[in-house]
Amino acid sequence: MDIKEIYETMDYGTAPESAEEANAWLDKNNRVFGHFIDGEFVSGTDHFETINPATGKSLAQVSQASSADVDSAVAAANRAFNEWSTRSGFERAKVLYALARNIQKHARLFSVLETLDNGKPIRESRDIDIPLVHRHFYYHAGMAQLMAKELPNREAIGVCGQIIPWNFPMLMLAWKIAPALAMGNTVVLKPAETTSLTALLFAEICAQSGVPKGVVNIVTGDGDVGDMIVRHKDVHKIAFTGSTDVGRKIRQATAGSGKSLTLELGGKSPFIVFDDADLDSAVEGVVDAIWFNQGQVCCAGSRLLVQAGLADKFHSKLVNRMKKLRVGDPLDKSIDMGAINSQAQLDRIKSMLSSCDPSKITTAETTMPDDGYYHPPTLIQDVETSDTLMQEEIFGPVLVSTTFRTPSEAVALANNTRYGLAASVWSENINLALGMAPKLKAGVVWVNGTNFFDAGAGFGGTKESGFGREGGWEGLMAYTRPVNVPKEPADYSTKKTTPNRAASINRTYKNYVGGKQSRPDGGYTKQISDSSNAATYDIPISNRKDLRNAVEAANKAIGWSSSTGHLRSQILYYFAENLSARADEFAALIDTFQPRGMSGAEEVQATLETIFECAAWSDKFDGDVRNVPVRGLALSLNEPVGTIAAFAPESQALLGLVRVIATNIAVGNRVIVFPSEINPVIAGELIQVIETSDIPAGVVNILFADHSDVAKHTAMHMDIDAVWCEETAPISSMIEEHSATNLKRTWTHVNTATEIREFLDHAIEKKTVWIPWGEG
Ligand code: NAI
Repeated sequence: MDIKEIYETMDYGTAPESAEEANAWLDKNNRVFGHFIDGEFVSGTDHFETINPATGKSLAQVSQASSADVDSAVAAANRAFNEWSTRSGFERAKVLYALARNIQKHARLFSVLETLDNGKPIRESRDIDIPLVHRHFYYHAGMAQLMAKELPNREAIGVCGQIIPWNFPMLMLAWKIAPALAMGNTVVLKPAETTSLTALLFAEICAQSGVPKGVVNIVTGDGDVGDMIVRHKDVHKIAFTGSTDVGRKIRQATAGSGKSLTLELGGKSPFIVFDDADLDSAVEGVVDAIWFNQGQVCCAGSRLLVQAGLADKFHSKLVNRMKKLRVGDPLDKSIDMGAINSQAQLDRIKSMLSSCDPSKITTAETTMPDDGYYHPPTLIQDVETSDTLMQEEIFGPVLVSTTFRTPSEAVALANNTRYGLAASVWSENINLALGMAPKLKAGVVWVNGTNFFDAGAGFGGTKESGFGREGGWEGLMAYTRPVNVPKEPADYSTKKTTPNRAASINRTYKNYVGGKQSRPDGGYTKQISDSSNAATYDIPISNRKDLRNAVEAANKAIGWSSSTGHLRSQILYYFAENLSARADEFAALIDTFQPRGMSGAEEVQATLETIFECAAWSDKFDGDVRNVPVRGLALSLNEPVGTIAAFAPESQALLGLVRVIATNIAVGNRVIVFPSEINPVIAGELIQVIETSDIPAGVVNILFADHSDVAKHTAMHMDIDAVWCEETAPISSMIEEHSATNLKRTWTHVNTATEIREFLDHAIEKKTVWIPWGEG
C-alpha cells in the first residue's frame, strides 16, 4: 500500500511488538518448566503444553504438580514463616520494594510473555496489567513498613494457599502475593493451567529480589493441584479467584478446617446509562467495560441497561462503534481485541450463544485471524431479564442489553442477579448517580467510568461474587488475624455462686420476632431449672417455620439499614439505660446460671460498656477517601451487610448475646440471634428490655432453638446475608459447609475475637465508589 492509498483509506497498518526477548527467555529454559519450591526451580514430571491462544501453537511445557510437590512447597513455606513474619516491617518492605523495582525493570518482558500466554492485546498488558502489578508491590511495601505502627493488634496468619485464574495472570498474582508478604505470611501459589509462564518468570525475579527461600513457592497444574492446596492440613489460609462453581467447592472443602478463606468469584455487572448521560463517553465506557481483555473480566459491564428514551440512539451509536473494533494478533498494537484464552473458553462462549435468536445478535465487522481462538465483539439486544444470557457469566466479548424507565427500575434490574461484584452508572446528574451508588448490591461502583482498579482501593464482591476484599487497608484483614486473643475467657475462680433470686414461679419464655413475643410454631418447649432448683423455666424450641418468620421480619425492617448513625446510637443508649435499670436482677441470674467466669455484676458492667462502645461507634464508624492515581475520588464506604443470623456463645450468656446484637444494630444490620442453649433464661429476660428500648420491629429477632437442628437451615437460607457462630464444631463446620449454597459470608470463632472493632469490621461490607472528575 502506498502513502496515497493509506491516506485515502485511512486504514490502520500493523504495529507488531517483538516477541524476541520473550522467546529467548523461553528458549533459555528449553521451553520446559518445573516448580519453584524453597527458593529453587525443581524439575517437574507429567508435563502439559501451554498454548499461545493467538496461534493455537505450543509455547512451552509446564508441569502438573504431584502431591509430593505440593507437600514440599507447603513444608518450605512453613519453615520460612517464623523468620519472615518476625522480621521488622522495614526489612520486609525492602524486599517488596525490590520486587516492584525488578518487575518494573523487566516490564516489557512480562507484558509480552503475558500476551503470548494469555492472548490479551499488548497495549493492555503493557499499559494496564503490568503497571498495576508494580504499583501493587510498591503500595504493599508501604503496608509492610506501616504494619507495626498502624495495625498493632494484627499478626500474620501463616501459610497462604493462593489459586488464581487465567484472565489477569500477573495482576492476580500481585493482588495475592503482595499483601500476603507485606503482612508476614508465606505463600504457595498456583497459577491457572493455561497461563503459568509469567508466574514462573516472577519466581526468577523473587530469587533476584532477596525473597528468602520458602517465602514464595509456585506450583503449576490444573484444578487437582488447586484442590490439594485447598485441603492441605498445613495451609492456614486460602485465597481464590475464579469461577463461582469452584469457589463453592472450596467453601465446602475448607468447612470446619479453621482455614481463613477469601473468594473473588464471578459477576454479571450492570452498566446503567441514564437519558442525561454524556453519550459519547458512555459508548466508550461500554467498549472498556465489555471488550477490554476480550470480556474475560470478572467485573466486566456485561449487562447494559439503557433508559428507554435514549435506547435507540444509544444502541445505534454503540453498534457503529462496535463494528469498527478490530480483532487480531494481540502483539499488534493497532488491534482492539486479542484472542480468547483457550479453545475450551471459546467453546463455552459459543455454546452459551447457541440458544439465542440470531436476529437479536450483532457482531463487529472485523476480519478474524485464521488460526487461534477468536470471537468478535458481540451485542445481543432485547434480552429478557430471566434469560440465561442475562443471568449467567459468559466471560467473553458479549454484551446483553435491555431498557428501563425509572431509576428505581434500574436498581431493581441491576440487583436482579445472584452476583454482586461491580456496577457502572452513567449520568451527568451527580445527585442521581451518587444516589444510585448505595442502592446497588455490588462491592464496587464506578460513576461515569468503568474498570478502574488500584492497589489503594478495595475490590471484591457480595452475594455469589464471593467475600473478602483485595487492595487498601481492608485487603489486609484477609492476611492478618487478631494478636494475643485469649483462647478461653478469663476464669474468675474466686467467684461466689450463691443464687439469690427469690423467684419460685414457673416462667414461660417466647421467641421474639418482628417486635412481638411469639410462641414457637411447633408448640414445643423444654424445661430447665436453675442450679438450686428454686425455679423452673419453659424455653421454646423453634423450627424452620420460626426461622422463616424471623427472616421475613428482619427483611421487612430494611429501612433500618438506611437509618442515621445518630438514631442508632440514641437507641443503643436507651437500650443500655433500660438494662442498667435491671442490672441487679441480671447479675443475680448470671450468678445462678453461670457458676464459673465473671461474676454477674462484672458481666452486666461489661455488657453496659459494650453497648456504650457500640453507641459511640454508630455515628463514627466511617468510611474514608482513598488516594488513587486518577483525577477524582475513590470513596471507601462501610455499608451494612443486611440480615445476619448469629449463634451466640455458650459462655457469657448476657455479654455474648448483647455484643452480637449491639454491634449489628450499630452499623444498621438486622439480626436473628440464637441465644446460648446452656443458659437461655438471660435471653428470655433480655427480650423485655429490648421491647422497651425503641428498637424497631424486626431489627432484633431472638429464636430459642436446638442449634444443631437449625444451623444447616440457617446457613442455607437464601435471604440471610451472613451467619456468625461463636460455637465450636459441629455447629460451626455445619454452617461453613452449608453456606456454600449461596456463598454467604460466615464468621466462625470461639472467643478468638473480643474487640468490638473486630465485630464491627465483620458487620459491614466495604463498597468502593469511584468518582472521576473534570471535563474531558
Ligand atoms: P476455574 O474457576 O475452574 O479456574 C480458576 C482456577 O481454579 C485455576 O487455577 C484452576 O486450576 C483452579 N481450580 C479449578 N478447580 C479447582 C478446585 N476444585 N480446587 C481448587 N482449585 C481449582 O475457571 P475456568 O474453568 O478456568 O473457567 C470457567 C469459567 O469460570 C469461565 O467461563 C468464567 O465464567 C469463570 N471464571 C471467572 C473468573 C473470574 O475472575 N471471575 C476467572 C476465571 C474463570
